Amino acid sequence: TAAPVVTIDGPGGAGKGTVAQAVAARLGWHFLDSGAIYRLLALSAQRAGLDAGQVESLVSVAQAMKIEFPATGAQAGQVLLDGEDVSEAIRSEDCGQFASELATQGLIRHALLERQRQFRQPPGLVADGRDMGTVVFADAPLKFFLTASVEERARRRHKQLMQKGISANLADLLEELKARDARDSKRTVAPLVPAEDATIVDTTDLSADAVIEKVLKAATGCV
Ligand code: C5P
Repeated sequence: TAAPVVTIDGPGGAGKGTVAQAVAARLGWHFLDSGAIYRLLALSAQRAGLDAGQVESLVSVAQAMKIEFPATGAQAGQVLLDGEDVSEAIRSEDCGQFASELATQGLIRHALLERQRQFRQPPGLVADGRDMGTVVFADAPLKFFLTASVEERARRRHKQLMQKGISANLADLLEELKARDARDSKRTVAPLVPAEDATIVDTTDLSADAVIEKVLKAATGCV
């Protein structure tokens, strides 16, 4: 039987990454940041000079790019594209916007499906994204959908960027999040919606620790 999966979906800035990573570490499970895969494709495509309309070439890039998320060793925590550390490059707002444009295409999503499913390995997986519970791991025994007001999500993004020494404008971030929310929610293929069997958690007034404990508590009773 397949290894268990906990899915954590939601819009940008809702705290999925922080929560999913911490839960995976506490359970000793694998972790999938599926947004990073879309961002890696966006970066590869950008470098290859492709635009969102060149779907056939984009599918080839999606199949060929070599991606690694080392969990141990000197490069632990890095995101590697064809061996190069692109952890910072993929976090730019530019890359996120382009990723969300590419993510509207069914053929592109399909090309990335199997690559995401390969992360499901014993003893288990915590997967973070937009469609983990609805499409990629629809059979997951435990699903969460994290939300927060768009203002709070913009504040969190802002703080995250400042901590990394990247300057950003709060009002711009707010507009960009709104644009990405709209694109992710309105697309016809795998739109951003909670799975029917997902637990919805509004994190606007919750600390990351409180959300992590909530997920862990549910996971201990269920998987
Ligand atoms: O989560 P993150 O901001 O890194 O994701 C970047 C973009 O990739 C999202 O705005 C979304 O359009 C796309 N994405 C997706 N499905 C996923 C993860 C990310 O469509 N499972």
